Amino acid sequence: MHAFTYINGQLHCENVALQGLADAHGTPLYVYSGNTILDHYHRLDRALGGLDHAIAYAVKANSNLSVLRLLAQAGAWFDIVSGGELFRVIKAGGNPAHCTFAGVGKTRDEIIYALQNNIYCFNVESAAELAYLNEVAAELGVFAPAAVRVNPNVDAKTHKYISTGKSENKFGIDFEAIEALYDQAAREWPHVRMRGLQMHIGSQLTSIAPFVEAVRKVKPLAQLLKERHQIEFWSIGGGIGIVYHDSLASGQASWWANHDPDSKPLSIDEYGAAVVPLLEDLGLKILMEPGRYIVGNAGVLLTRCLYEKKGNAKTFKIVDAGMNDLIRPALYEGHHEIATLQENNSTPVKADVVGPICESGDFFCQDRVMPDFKPGDVIALLSAGAYGFVMASNYNTRPLPAEILVDGSEAVVARKRQTLDDLIAGEI
Ligand code: LLP
Repeated sequence: MHAFTYINGQLHCENVALQGLADAHGTPLYVYSGNTILDHYHRLDRALGGLDHAIAYAVKANSNLSVLRLLAQAGAWFDIVSGGELFRVIKAGGNPAHCTFAGVGKTRDEIIYALQNNIYCFNVESAAELAYLNEVAAELGVFAPAAVRVNPNVDAKTHKYISTGKSENKFGIDFEAIEALYDQAAREWPHVRMRGLQMHIGSQLTSIAPFVEAVRKVKPLAQLLKERHQIEFWSIGGGIGIVYHDSLASGQASWWANHDPDSKPLSIDEYGAAVVPLLEDLGLKILMEPGRYIVGNAGVLLTRCLYEKKGNAKTFKIVDAGMNDLIRPALYEGHHEIATLQENNSTPVKADVVGPICESGDFFCQDRVMPDFKPGDVIALLSAGAYGFVMASNYNTRPLPAEILVDGSEAVVARKRQTLDDLIAGEI
């Protein structure tokens, strides 16, 4: 579900009108629906039902403290990829003992910080990293819990920049080498304790088949490692895709639906029905690491139209958000629906929606047929809750946008807009 709907002709997040938020807090502005985030978390939790499981939210998708706090209170675990993310989880009241630490390049300082905070497990991506983890843990006189990320060589059939489970990707260790590595760890690295096994084949998967293929392929290995090395968990990663080509409950729905007739949701219940039976008899704790599924459709980016320019070839609608605020279209050819804040039944127009950044790649859509809007109007870029704000930068010396978290009829500023002074803080 998502909570962005027209009520009396005005686009709302839950019970809060987005126009009011844009007017009060300015644009560009990220707005998140807290109840959508919780709904997605609980849906996935239910889908994994009978399994001994934990949902380790992938913090990288949206690391705002208020979002993390919501999830921590709901009982979520966290999958982190840096010392900075661990710091955020702790500040938000999350439990470090429920954190897994992923990533191919953990530094010494990050390893020490995570060891001192007794995280649940380091998800290790190379033999060299496992040896180094052993060395640092020995220096500190502690034992480091570890899992190895297996690269199952399964095609996730997603954008090439977010596919991770093929042999040519930098992630994980080849399937065939895993057994020997666990044996080596037991022999040579007494300060690591092999606690689990991890995999993650890619992000924004829109079909269940690659998940099933990977689970089937790796299951015998998980079984073997449980018997031989007493591992206690298997993390099957994140990657559940969301619908970007969405439709709101409005007269505009047909336009959006027509835009991409192939776009269909990956049903979380079908996902559970396909995957859970394969895992039930293993006797391992199952972890999942969803990011986008939890927060993606729970957020929008509001931006105001500044100018319209009609050239010989195209019409450009120039808005006050840029690729520095939401980079997904530029980096992954990502699609974000555009919704006007007032329900709009005028004749749709074809245009490019572009930002103010000095780059040709600074666009939110090209040649898209959409409801018309004019300078002064605010529009919403939908499905921007994941990999939106977290990937924003100060490029072109633009302050980072503010973030708002909505709960029912209440909206709080979860992060203030940066000021000009914030932009130069730390420089001499
Ligand atoms: N676990 C690991 C080890 C990961 O590398 C990732 C994402 C996740 C979990 C969470 O994946 P999710 O459930 O969100 O698909 N910036 C890109 C996505 C990059 C994903 C990186 N890894 C985008 O905007 O599409």
